[in-house]
Amino acid sequence: MRSPFSQGARVLAGSIILLCAGVGAQLDTLAKRAGKVYFGSAVDNPELGDLPYKTLLSNASEFGQLTAGNSLKWETVQPVRGTYKFAGGDEILALAKQNRQLFRGHTCVWHSQLAAWVEAGKFSAKDLTAIIEDHCGRLVGHYKGEMYSWDVVNEAFEDDGSYRKSVFYNTLGTQYFETALRAARKADPNTKLYLNDYNVEGINSKSDAYYTLIKSLIAKKVPIDGFGVQGHLIVGQVPTNIRENFQRFADLGIDVAITELDIRMVLPVTPEKLEQQKRDYAAVIRACKAVKRCVGVTVWDYTDKYSWIPSVFKGEGAALPWDENLKKKPAYDGIASAWLS
Ligand code: G3I
Repeated sequence: MRSPFSQGARVLAGSIILLCAGVGAQLDTLAKRAGKVYFGSAVDNPELGDLPYKTLLSNASEFGQLTAGNSLKWETVQPVRGTYKFAGGDEILALAKQNRQLFRGHTCVWHSQLAAWVEAGKFSAKDLTAIIEDHCGRLVGHYKGEMYSWDVVNEAFEDDGSYRKSVFYNTLGTQYFETALRAARKADPNTKLYLNDYNVEGINSKSDAYYTLIKSLIAKKVPIDGFGVQGHLIVGQVPTNIRENFQRFADLGIDVAITELDIRMVLPVTPEKLEQQKRDYAAVIRACKAVKRCVGVTVWDYTDKYSWIPSVFKGEGAALPWDENLKKKPAYDGIASAWLS
C-alpha cells in the first residue's frame, strides 16, 4: 500500500526514531546501554600535553575506561632491579579518577618492553619465580582497589599455538602463568585477572591454545577472570567467527574483552576503505554485544594522530575511529550503530 506520507516526512520520522534510540549518544554511553561495562581508549603519557586530545579523552560519555599504553610495562616500572617507577601510571590513574573512568592495567609479564636486566641476569627458576612474584605483587599492589582489571600475562603464545620461547617460558615452563596470576590475586583480591594476546579474535591455533591453557588453569583453581583479545585487525579481513570464539571462553565462566582494537588499512585513505572500515568496526562491536560476558571494548588510542601502526607497518595506518585532526571517521558511526543494533 502506498504510504500517505511523503518520502521526506518518512525520512524525518526515521531520523527522529533513531535519535530517540540514542544516535548522537556517545560510545561509552551506548556500550553501557548495550549491557557492557565500558568503551575505552589507550593513552600514552606524552599525549596528555595535547590539550584538545586530552579534552576529548576526558569525555567519559565517549570513553568510560583508560589503559596506559606504555607506562605500566616492565621496562618503565622496574628498569633497574628493585627500583620502581609509577609516575606515568599514576598520572593516568589520576586522570581516570578525575573523569570517573575505569582503569585497565597493562601489563605485568611480557617478553617485550621488558627490562634488560631480567633477561641478562640468567636467573635460576627459583630466582625468576621470586622476581615475578615481586614485580607483579608490587605493580598490582600499587594500584590495589584502583584497577578494573589487569593483563597479567601478555602475548604468551606464537601464532601456531606453541608457547612463546620467552625468558619466562624458557626458565619456568608453563608454571609462570600460575606464579604471576597468584601474585596478582594476592596483591589485589578484587581486580580481574586476564591473559591477553593478538591474533586470537577468531577460532584458530592460537586461540585454541589459550582455550586449553585457561581450562587447565581453572581446573587447578588458579585465579583467572578474563581473556583479553587485542583486536589489531586489517580492513576487509576481520575474522567471521569472533562471536563463536568469545562464546566458548565465556562458557568457561570467564569474561572476555577487546583490549586494543584498531583496524588498519593500506594508505592512502579512500572513501571506499573508510566505508569498509566502518563495517569492520561494526562487526567487531556486534560480536562483543552478542556475547553477554564480553564486558567492553578498548581502542588502542582513539585517534590516528597517536596510533602505533604507521611506525610498525610501513605504508599502513588510519586505523582508528577519529582521524589525525580528531575528527570522527565513518568508523565512529559504525561503532555507534552496532551498539544500537
Ligand atoms: O620512550 C622512547 C623515547 O625515549 C624515544 O625517543 C622514542 C623514539 O622512537 O621511542 C620511545 O619508545 C617507544 C615507545 O613505544 C614509547 O613511545 C618505542 O620506540 C616503541 O617501540 C614503543 O611502541 C609501543 C609498542 O607497544 C612496543 O611493542 C607502542 O607505543 C605501544 O602502543 C605498543 O602497544 C602494544 C601493546 O603493549 C601490546 N600489544 C601490541 C601493542 C602494539 O604494538
